[in-house]
Amino acid sequence: MPPLLPLLVLSVLASASASAEQDVYALGKLKAALVSDTTPALADWDLAAAPPAHCSFRGVSCDSAARVVGINLTGMPLHGGSLPPEVALLDALENLTVAACSLEGSLPASLAALPALRHLNISNNNFTGPFPVPIGAGEPYFPVLEFVDAYNNNLSGPLPPFGAAHTRLRYLHLGGNYFSGVIRESYADLAALEYLGLNGNSLSGCVPASLARLKRLREMYIGYFNMFNGGVPPELGELHSLVRLDMSSCNLTGPIPPELGQLAHLDTLFLQMNRLSGEIPTQIAGLKNLKSMDLSMNELTGEIPAGLANLTSLTLLHLFRNHLHGNIPEFVANLPNLEVLQLWENNLTGQLPAGLGKNSPLKMLDVAINHLTGQIPPELCAHGTLEALVLMENCLSGPIPGSLAACKTLKQIRLGKNMFSTSSVPAQLFDLEEAKANMLELTKVVLTSQL
Ligand SMILES: *[C@@H]1O[C@H](CO)[C@@H](O)[C@H](O)[C@H]1NC(C)=O
Ligand SMILES: *[C@@H]1O[C@H](CO)[C@@H](O)[C@H](O)[C@H]1NC(C)=O
Ligand SMILES: *[C@@H]1O[C@H](CO)[C@@H](O)[C@H](O)[C@H]1NC(C)=O
Ligand SMILES: *[C@@H]1O[C@H](CO)[C@@H](O)[C@H](O)[C@H]1NC(C)=O
Ligand SMILES: *[C@@H]1O[C@H](CO)[C@@H](O)[C@H](O)[C@H]1NC(C)=O
Ligand SMILES: *[C@@H]1O[C@H](CO)[C@@H](O)[C@H](O)[C@H]1NC(C)=O
Ligand SMILES: *[C@@H]1O[C@H](CO)[C@@H](O)[C@H](O)[C@H]1NC(C)=O
Ligand SMILES: *[C@@H]1O[C@H](CO)[C@@H](O)[C@H](O)[C@H]1NC(C)=O
Repeated sequence: MPPLLPLLVLSVLASASASAEQDVYALGKLKAALVSDTTPALADWDLAAAPPAHCSFRGVSCDSAARVVGINLTGMPLHGGSLPPEVALLDALENLTVAACSLEGSLPASLAALPALRHLNISNNNFTGPFPVPIGAGEPYFPVLEFVDAYNNNLSGPLPPFGAAHTRLRYLHLGGNYFSGVIRESYADLAALEYLGLNGNSLSGCVPASLARLKRLREMYIGYFNMFNGGVPPELGELHSLVRLDMSSCNLTGPIPPELGQLAHLDTLFLQMNRLSGEIPTQIAGLKNLKSMDLSMNELTGEIPAGLANLTSLTLLHLFRNHLHGNIPEFVANLPNLEVLQLWENNLTGQLPAGLGKNSPLKMLDVAINHLTGQIPPELCAHGTLEALVLMENCLSGPIPGSLAACKTLKQIRLGKNMFSTSSVPAQLFDLEEAKANMLELTKVVLTSQL
């Protein structure tokens, strides 16, 4: 029982037939806290009305006994409103959705005692202070919770102590807050978990290898602003259901574990903006379903591994700002779905693959600031999709292909600081940084007149 309930309510509670009246009482308290004096909202919540009239209040839904089972006030502007402790009187409540309502204040500890609460969505508000913690040993703590979305608030303190008791918890999004401390080992016991969002907090410590026990996990987001010690645990390769893994920008060091290549369902791998070092493991070839791979802004060395040839679903490949050397392998031109290829600021040498653009709907090619030689491949815009071509600061030579002049989709082209044979075209004309439409016209005029 939540503490500090008025005696009146306790007596009301005793009678089952009065439960709907208890809900009306709680809705009254809720309205008073949600609606600050200056905001006219929830006007139809007429608390003088007798049950089951409250079941028609905006955003309220009831079961057949006129008990409140759902509250959904998504998007309602309740500037400065807050959630009162009496919300816990709604003991039949299954769904509480107060997302994007401009709410403030701290979350009432009594929330944790709601016996039927399955969906809690408080995302996109300004709630501050800690997430509710257990009131005492043996007290209920979100006993049947399945979905928690607290994304984009100002919550702080340690992460909530979910664990083995939360057998139904499938979705846990606590991203975009100020949570600090470590990722709790107990999260590895959330056997039903499919979604874990801890991104954009102030977490520290190591990424627990025990998270590898989350065999149902499909999406894991733990980067951005968090600052971890150490690297990517090789055990994460055991997360066989994983579809999205985002550990960007969170101070990871050490190598990319070859074990990640076991993630056969992975569609997105984001490890950019860390301090990962060593070579890209050739076992990455096991990521047969990978569509997006971003390993940019790390300290990776070695060559682009041959295993990437097997990633035929790849649409986006970002390897820029590393220390890769060697050639851009010919197979890159044969990845049938490749749209975005960004390899700038490495130490790549040799020629661009001759067939680049011929076999895939290439949209963007950026290989600036390398040591590439040879000519611009003639079929970059063969699919009529090329929007950006950035080749500057290499040692490329030869003519600028006429096919680029006919490329209607092209919005950005930067070719400066190379050795092209374009005596009639000043190099800076191609170093276009200003209004894009303009640049396109200018580029085309110049290229056309040159043909
Ligand atoms: C709670 O929300 C879920 C997901 O949106 C929905 O399937 C379910 O019907 C809702 N239940 C109630 C009682 O509103
Ligand atoms: C809440 O209401 C919004 C729109 O009013 C709707 O899009 C959303 O699906 C609802 N959510 C739940 C959990 O019922
Ligand atoms: C929570 O509500 C927001 C609406 O602001 C919605 O975008 C989001 O998908 C909801 N979360 C869940 C888990 O349904
Ligand atoms: C939080 O409050 C600030 C200041 O009042 C406001 O600008 C911002 O939009 C609010 N954020 C959300 C998610 O409601
Ligand atoms: C929430 O945090 C943001 C960013 O730090 C800040 O601008 C805003 O005032 C905070 N809101 C509240 C209610 O504390
Ligand atoms: C970043 O990682 C390094 C190496 O693991 C560690 O020494 C350092 O303390 C980390 N930085 C922070 C702010 O945690
Ligand atoms: C790529 O796939 C081929 C054919 O499926 C296979 O023989 C080869 O071992 C794979 N390469 C790597 C590096 O895994
Ligand atoms: C390229 O290689 C040279 C010589 O080995 C090295 O000094 C330089 O730091 C490298 N640049 C990058 C971006 O890795």
